[in-house]
Amino acid sequence: METVNRQIVLAARPVGLPKESDFRLVESPMPRPRPGEALVRALYLSVDPYMRGWMRRNGTSSRTVEVGAVMVGGIVGRVIESNDPRLAVGDLVEGSLGWQDYASAPAKALRHIDPSVAPAPAWLYVLGMPGLTAYFGLLDICHPQPGETVVISGAAGAVGSLVGQIAKIKRCRTVGIAGSGEKVRFLTQQLGFDAGFNYKTTSDYYAKLKEVCPTGIDIYFDNVGGPITDAVIQLINARARVAVCGQISQYNLEQPDVGPRWLLQLVFKQAKVEGFSVFQYADRYEEGLRQLATWLREGRIKYHEDIMDGLENAPRAFIRMLQGENLGKQLVKIAE
Ligand SMILES: NC(=O)c1ccc[n+]([C@@H]2O[C@H](COP(=O)([O-])OP(=O)(O)OC[C@H]3O[C@@H](n4cnc5c(N)ncnc54)[C@H](OP(=O)(O)O)[C@@H]3O)[C@@H](O)[C@H]2O)c1
Repeated sequence: METVNRQIVLAARPVGLPKESDFRLVESPMPRPRPGEALVRALYLSVDPYMRGWMRRNGTSSRTVEVGAVMVGGIVGRVIESNDPRLAVGDLVEGSLGWQDYASAPAKALRHIDPSVAPAPAWLYVLGMPGLTAYFGLLDICHPQPGETVVISGAAGAVGSLVGQIAKIKRCRTVGIAGSGEKVRFLTQQLGFDAGFNYKTTSDYYAKLKEVCPTGIDIYFDNVGGPITDAVIQLINARARVAVCGQISQYNLEQPDVGPRWLLQLVFKQAKVEGFSVFQYADRYEEGLRQLATWLREGRIKYHEDIMDGLENAPRAFIRMLQGENLGKQLVKIAE
């Protein structure tokens, strides 16, 4: 049994894009589970855009990681000691246990996962927070109807790649915007998107969107914000629905980004823009997970994991995700 726990803590608040030196690997004593708790050995860690918000002091996120504290993050792990009858040694669980090898947590804060439904890392992706975000964000906020055109920004990432596939299941025409030719090919050739384009090699987003959305845009699932969103809004149809899931183009900015004022377009088109957080659907997670697991089993949803090895490489994995080097879900493998 190990006696030392490796943890990655926030070493400094980043300015702009985080650097590896904003994180530090430290060793601490092995945690001990109290009554009602389980000790968990982390196997996979999820690195997600929301963590950038938590690295700010009084930032856009409502929560903050203090300098010197363990970075926040979801993991899938194995129970190695349990002081609660709900969990047994050997069980696989998912929970928000942070960037570390081991953590003790109340059993009620851990989700028991079944590896016969999907392999362990998928519970941080299709059957985890990104899958639920795609499911509720598209279905509950946008109400897609057959034949409608759905545009997705950040389309080749964890949430976006699932949104497009769910939109296809709902018989929509699906257009993905992503940051490389390889990503666009992945969307159109492997995931069944009808069209897509690489925003990094496109100079006029409006003209490109007009070409790939000849009947306009009924639904926009926004993961990125900024100039991509400004262009999409110019092409929305009457009664369009816009789900604001995230604004990743803004997360590393130190000064607010000022763009065109397009609210009047919503008046002309009687359109709806709605922000949401996956956590508002906590009481419906069961429904979402059941449906996502069914689509997985039926082969109607495909997924791609981008896995980096080693807890010590978690900062690198996080930074590469923010820079768009990930295809699908960025994860870190911590142990077998
Ligand atoms: N509302 C919620 O409850 C909720 C829950 C989960 C996630 N989210 C949000 O959903 C979005 C996607 O999250 P995810 O976990 O699926 O991450 P992800 O898409 O797997 O990874 C982030 C992607 O963002 C893109 N990106 C980075 N900088 C960009 C920029 N300046 N402009 C355009 N695209 C940029 C990159 O792809 P490219 O190569 O295409 O640039 C990168 O791969 C994020 O905004 C996140 O905050 C919201």
